[in-house]
Amino acid sequence: MTVLDQTRPLDLLADFPAIPQGWAYLDTAATAQKPRPVIDAITRAYDTSYATVHRGVYQRSADMTLAYEAARRRVAGFIGAASADQIVFVRGATEGINLVAQSWGQRLGPGDRILLSALEHHSNIVPWQLLRDRTGAEIDVIPLTADGQVDLVAAEAMIGPQHKLVALAHVSNVLGSILDVRRAADMAHAVGAKLLVDGCQAVPRLAVDVATLGADFYVFSGHKLYGPTGVGVLWAKAEILDSMPPWQGGGSMIDRVTFERTTYAPAPARFEAGTPHITGALGLHAAIDYVEAIGLDAIHAHEAALVRLTREALGNLNSVRLFGPENSAGIVSFAVEGVHPHDVGTILDEEQVAIRAGHHCAQPLMDVLGVPATARASFGVYNGEQDVARLVRGIERVTRIFG
Ligand SMILES: Cc1ncc(COP(=O)(O)O)c(C=O)c1O
Repeated sequence: MTVLDQTRPLDLLADFPAIPQGWAYLDTAATAQKPRPVIDAITRAYDTSYATVHRGVYQRSADMTLAYEAARRRVAGFIGAASADQIVFVRGATEGINLVAQSWGQRLGPGDRILLSALEHHSNIVPWQLLRDRTGAEIDVIPLTADGQVDLVAAEAMIGPQHKLVALAHVSNVLGSILDVRRAADMAHAVGAKLLVDGCQAVPRLAVDVATLGADFYVFSGHKLYGPTGVGVLWAKAEILDSMPPWQGGGSMIDRVTFERTTYAPAPARFEAGTPHITGALGLHAAIDYVEAIGLDAIHAHEAALVRLTREALGNLNSVRLFGPENSAGIVSFAVEGVHPHDVGTILDEEQVAIRAGHHCAQPLMDVLGVPATARASFGVYNGEQDVARLVRGIERVTRIFG
């Protein structure tokens, strides 16, 4: 295996207590392991400063409210949002997309169309199908280029004034393909449509600035960004959030309630019914501090080098078929000829290598690729060349076992 010197080791393994020595964790696209500062921030919140937010008149609750709102400002700064009021805390990307579909989507009706791509995660397909079934709007699907990127040339030929929304992944969770978001935004805006970007796999791997990207909605999950599960972010332009009705009712999202009539709080509170995931927000704050201290450009360079190394090494094995573009972001999907990906994953597990095998919640993409499933290695800041070497040794063993 060629060792690429561009693989600048970040040497951060010691920050991740749940990664034992000798275990190659290559499933970061499913969920990232947590660094010590994130674990500490959550433990500290429960150990020493826990209380509810937005309600208490006592000092502890006021302090917790300040910390919770500081997390919101931290998220805003991290993605270049103009104001913290544009940041809605949700459970994750899935909930963020469902929120947009159920609230903003109410304005759609028969004759309106939604444009998705063939590589979307189920969470950026099914909410729109539910909306289609409720409103009579229709869905169109952008095809992919031969190397697995969203074909924006085809999309530009497909889109028209009947399209009200374009919803696309910034980075594919299967292929690692990176979307040209600016171009997609210009394409959508040229016909008066809005662009929703599923940034789940992008925020841990690329510097994201929503103002430069030009999207209208951006969603991501905290747990893929080295933060806790159960917290995620919906960002939207202020005028769009202001125009959206509530989607869930309950405490915290109201202005005044009577049995005759209820008025609602402004965004973002209008979209955050009930007691939020307080410590989740604090953990996300710590996660953003952690990745920003490393630098997204350094993370991207690190993962890009690991992807090159992996593609080169696996590409040298006759039995392996690689999917996706050469320059994928931190994610490599592949198949071993004649071996089901689940068997690949099981044998790799015996070699202390954790990968994901399956349809990756992207069954329509599997249909396009012509396979029921793929094996997927995905990288994080804690990975290094030693993990790629283990993966390749494991795949060599797979091919030996299956002849
Ligand atoms: C591209 C993409 N979108 C959406 C999701 C859904 O994220 P979550 O399950 O955290 O809501 C995922 C998770 O795998 C993903 O990779």
